[in-house]
Amino acid sequence: MAQLKKAISPSLMCADFLRLGEELTALEKQGIEYLHVDVMDGAFVQNYTLGTDFVKKIKGACSIPLDLHLMIEEPERKLAWFDFGEGDYVSVHYEACRHVQATLSAIRARGAKAMIALNPATPLSVLEELLPDLDGVLIMTVNPGFAGQKLIPQTLDKIRRLRTWLDGCGYGHVDIECDGNVSFENAKKMSEAGANIFVAGTSSIYAKGQSLEENIEVLRRSLL
Ligand code: DX5
Ligand code: ZN
Repeated sequence: MAQLKKAISPSLMCADFLRLGEELTALEKQGIEYLHVDVMDGAFVQNYTLGTDFVKKIKGACSIPLDLHLMIEEPERKLAWFDFGEGDYVSVHYEACRHVQATLSAIRARGAKAMIALNPATPLSVLEELLPDLDGVLIMTVNPGFAGQKLIPQTLDKIRRLRTWLDGCGYGHVDIECDGNVSFENAKKMSEAGANIFVAGTSSIYAKGQSLEENIEVLRRSLL
C-alpha cells in the first residue's frame, strides 16, 4: 500500500489576524501543504467564525490550496457562495447535510477534492455507500465549534479502524484528516493510527512561547 503524504493544515481561526499577511508568507516559505479554514454558522455549531469574504481574500492572496471545513447546516445550498476550485479540499459534515452524495459530487464537479467530516459520535458505517465519491474523510477528534479542547480518546481507534477498512477495500488513496487537539504528542499517535492530514491549531503551531517556524519544525519531526 502506497504511503500517503503527511500534510499539515494550519487552522487559520487560530492565526493572528492582525499579522495574517506575514503569517501566510511564513507558511508558504515553510512549504505548508493546505490552509484549514473553519466556517461556523452559529447553527450547526455554537460559534461563528470565518466566512465567504475571508475565503475569497485568502484564495487571492496565497498559493497554498484551501482546506475548507464547512461546519454549516445545509451546505448543499451554500457551496456556490464559496470561492474554491481545482486542488482545494472541501469538507461537509455528514450530520448537517441531507443530500450527501449530491454534495460530494458537486464539490468534485468544481475540480476540488470532496471530503466528509464526521463528529466524534457519528459511526464510520455512514461512509459505506459514499466511498466512490470521497477523496478524504475528516475525523473530528474533538466536538466541532471551538479551538483549545481536549482530545476525545476513542477517536484514535476510529482513525485506526477507518484506515484499515479503506486500505482493505481498495480505497487506500482516500486521505484521513484529523481535527482537534492535534498537539505534538497527539499528532504522533494520530499518524501512527493512519491519519495523514493534520489540522494544526492552538495545540501545536499556534502554541505560545515559540515562533510559528519553530512549532512547524517540531510538528514535522513528530510526524516522521
Ligand atoms: C475546529 C477547529 C479546531 C481548532 C484546532 O474545526 O479546526 O479544532 O482550530 O485547534 P486546537 O489545537 O486548538 O484544537
Ligand atoms: Zn476544522
